[in-house]
Amino acid sequence: MMSFTLQWSAAFPSALFCRCSSRCSSKSFQRHCNRTLSEKVRVSDALSSKETGSNVRIQGWVRSVRPQKDNLFLHVNDGSSLQSLQVVASSHLNTRDLTFGCAVDITGTLEKSPSKRQNVELRARHIEVVGECNPVDFPFKIKERHSLEYVRQFPHLRCRTNAFSSLLRIRSEATTAIQSFFRDNGYVQIHTPVITSNDCEGAGELFQVEPAGHNDSDDPNPHFFSVPAYLTVSGQLHLEVMAGAFSAVYTFGPTFRAENSQSRRHLAEFYMVEAEIAFTESLDDLMKVMEGLFKAATEHVLSSCAEDVELFHKYIAPGHRDQVDLMLKRKFYVISYTEAIDILKSSSQNFTISTEWGCDLQTEHEKFLVKHCGNVPVFVINYPYELKPFYARDNQDQPNHTAAAVDLLVPGVGELCGGSLREERLELLSQRLAQAGLEDTYAWYLQLREFGSVPHGGFGMGFERYLQCILGLHNIKDVIPFARFSHSCLL
Ligand code: 4AD
Ligand code: MG
Repeated sequence: MMSFTLQWSAAFPSALFCRCSSRCSSKSFQRHCNRTLSEKVRVSDALSSKETGSNVRIQGWVRSVRPQKDNLFLHVNDGSSLQSLQVVASSHLNTRDLTFGCAVDITGTLEKSPSKRQNVELRARHIEVVGECNPVDFPFKIKERHSLEYVRQFPHLRCRTNAFSSLLRIRSEATTAIQSFFRDNGYVQIHTPVITSNDCEGAGELFQVEPAGHNDSDDPNPHFFSVPAYLTVSGQLHLEVMAGAFSAVYTFGPTFRAENSQSRRHLAEFYMVEAEIAFTESLDDLMKVMEGLFKAATEHVLSSCAEDVELFHKYIAPGHRDQVDLMLKRKFYVISYTEAIDILKSSSQNFTISTEWGCDLQTEHEKFLVKHCGNVPVFVINYPYELKPFYARDNQDQPNHTAAAVDLLVPGVGELCGGSLREERLELLSQRLAQAGLEDTYAWYLQLREFGSVPHGGFGMGFERYLQCILGLHNIKDVIPFARFSHSCLL
């Protein structure tokens, strides 16, 4: 207790009454003074602080505890950076509940650290354990590097691990980078609806939305919105509406697909970045935007999250940094679907699903094509007309009838972006919708072609696949805060 009082009083100017032992006798009063006189700082700010000697207050979670004879060493992390702040305290401040994983509130003085491993450390005056953590029951163990598969079992706790907290900071910064790219290039952000009556991709991978517990079979209209409603599979059609007034628009939000897939690149709920550009007549214009977006966002992430990115490129996907640098340096390739089929057919590789003109490209084909192009991203353009949804623009070519659609394939992931020019010609669009029996459903969409219609196009990029691609992560479930996929348990 003596040494505590000495440290305490030495830190404050005499004008402050804390030196007076009669008034400072109560621990809670000391704590109160400590707190009110100390500026609350984030760990990242403390670590980069040039000013030592200031009184600060740090709140976070203990990542290591090392008691020594006279001193106690802690590392405290508050999620603001990969690095934790070293805290040095007199061993008198050690308590049984100060364990790995517990939440702490610490006041003290920032000092220059004698160690080469950090510039500053916090000399603690007061340590309060705010939330205890039993290290035996806590699923993560001190000093152990747990696999991504292991931490995936604890979706409610995995943000406490280094790798996943780095991932979430990168994800947050990548979101900002994407928003900045569109803002800097004159796009207007549109919040497209999550609940919609359309199936933009026409693939039937829809989650239907109805009020829970409503099953009145006598109700003549059982639907809440008078028509069946679904969670959106793409904001594209709503963006097309807006592109007809703002020229360049984008959206970035949750997207839902009822794909019964356990694959490492499919989720039931994921985030999609979508752009729609009016007065666009060529796929080249779209590809420029896709490549520009990929490169600008990646450069931003690499420079603003260097430490976090390094964790992945050093420990989880060693060597992946070279792959990323290559993607940034090289111009992306462009090949036609027809050329892609020729490449696949003439390869000696035994694919599980063989290829013929007209077939959809599978992940194994996409990966082969990227490898074939020297691991540089590749745009595949002009897909068979029949493979693409009703909105894709008819190239009116023959004998191979194609649509002006494009997919961007990237190393390790396969398809990252899908886009197309849109069919802006009223007659051709009505014919295609009529063939599918969708003329009434999409009457409003057809009307867009009647009033000031212009050639336009756009694309969507899967945000999780983007993160997989730049970080070298094998499984999509490791790049989203809470993964939703078929047969998974939800928090
Ligand atoms: O290729 P998709 O289906 O294209 C569209 O939805 C267009 N309407 C977009 C547009 O033109 N505005 O999806 C776009 C991208 C895919 O390339 C893929 O990266 C990602 O979204 N994606 C998924 N990501 C994770 N899980 C899933 N189940 C995904 N389905 C698509
Ligand atoms: Mg696609």
